[in-house]
Amino acid sequence: MTRIPHESTLDSSLNLLTEGYPFLNNRVKRFQSNIFQTRLLFQKAVCLHGPEATEVFYNPELFTRKGAIPERVQKTLLGEDGVQTMAGEEHRHRKAMFMALMAPDSLQILKDHLKRFWLAYSRKWEHMDQVVLFDDAQEVFCLAACSWAGVPLKPEEVRTRAQDFAAMVDAFGAVGPRHWRGRWARDRGEKWTKGIIKKIRNGKLTVPEASPAHVIALHRDLEGELLSTRMAAIELINVIRPTVAIAYFVVFTALALYEHPEYRQKLQYDDGRLTEMFVQEVRRFYPFAPFVGARVRKKFKWGGHKFKKGNLVLLDIYGPLHDEALWEQPYAFRPERFQNWEGSPFNFIPQGGGDYLNNHRCAGEWLTIEAMKVSLDFLTNDVVYEVPEQDLSFSLARIPTYPKSGFIIRKVRRMNREA
Ligand code: HEM
Repeated sequence: MTRIPHESTLDSSLNLLTEGYPFLNNRVKRFQSNIFQTRLLFQKAVCLHGPEATEVFYNPELFTRKGAIPERVQKTLLGEDGVQTMAGEEHRHRKAMFMALMAPDSLQILKDHLKRFWLAYSRKWEHMDQVVLFDDAQEVFCLAACSWAGVPLKPEEVRTRAQDFAAMVDAFGAVGPRHWRGRWARDRGEKWTKGIIKKIRNGKLTVPEASPAHVIALHRDLEGELLSTRMAAIELINVIRPTVAIAYFVVFTALALYEHPEYRQKLQYDDGRLTEMFVQEVRRFYPFAPFVGARVRKKFKWGGHKFKKGNLVLLDIYGPLHDEALWEQPYAFRPERFQNWEGSPFNFIPQGGGDYLNNHRCAGEWLTIEAMKVSLDFLTNDVVYEVPEQDLSFSLARIPTYPKSGFIIRKVRRMNREA
């Protein structure tokens, strides 16, 4: 067997911190190989890139997530021992619970709430000197997510809850204060959602039957047992937190509209097709998830490498979104490229790939796309605004990243759709 390229360093964790999103792709290019070995957090890590590798990575016979997610990510972003760490039948059963929340009727409820809160915020914005879209988008998504989920939210707690969900997300590639802010936010969030689960179970809080809080509070595992209060609280956060995280994509949507004004008018007269393509191009063009990790379940050979049970393997997410072999002019923002995309589960994976029910692909991908479409429609058809001079650059070394100014808008005016 040929030997795959090895990075000859004691440990590359510091390089990952300084290079950020392109860390894997930089080495793919340097080694001219879709598979290479490095060392991260003082262990060997085999890194994979591209659709063929993605297909292998998403074979549940070969990989498991057990033991693959670092404790620091579970203590901030994900919560400990939730769906992301499960395997086999237990994972399928828990995942089916999440996917049931993504039925069209359920998504329509989320979309209606989202639209309502965008419009309410736009009324407020008309009287403000300027608005930091990133901050307000987090509040709008927090309000919409909680209303959809059946989680009561008092007006005075909207800002802090939104900030806490955002802090959990902001911590995922961080060390130091950002990491600790994420940990404290998670502690507060779990305490809060535990209280909600308890109240639903003891009848002190009535929420709609199909709402996420109800479904999760009453979900039974394969043994027919309710989830522990803590686990139900974690899974409830696993629905609300990533919905709030869509604010990152919304700010990038606003940035794309600003940098490509030629689309604004086209989107106003759109039958929905361009809106969908625009949203897909935002998910391709702008960075969010850098890579995902798994451990080898049983030994196998692929790409000139013998994978051994327990090996850590990382799959590149950011790199393939900008790979010339997959996308013509990958650094050009061109929504029309999605006209010809055949919908492969392996060549466009901003939220993971493979199968939803039988694997770990993002449970909320359809929700994300729909929520982005509602938000894009709002930005193009419901409001006009000015974008003052500001620092709209974003650093690829920061994970997760967003425009440094948070995207400031001013002179917001609501538009009359019927006019
Ligand atoms: C998993 C990204 C929004 C719920 C994932 C994964 C990624 C991801 C990369 C891991 C895939 C893997 O391990 O193979 C994103 C991004 C989002 C987003 C970039 C946009 C903001 C959402 C939303 C929800 C959600 C809105 C729910 C409402 C989940 C869940 C998992 C997951 C439950 C774990 C699935 C499993 O382990 O089986 N997401 N996600 N995500 N996501 Fe998302």
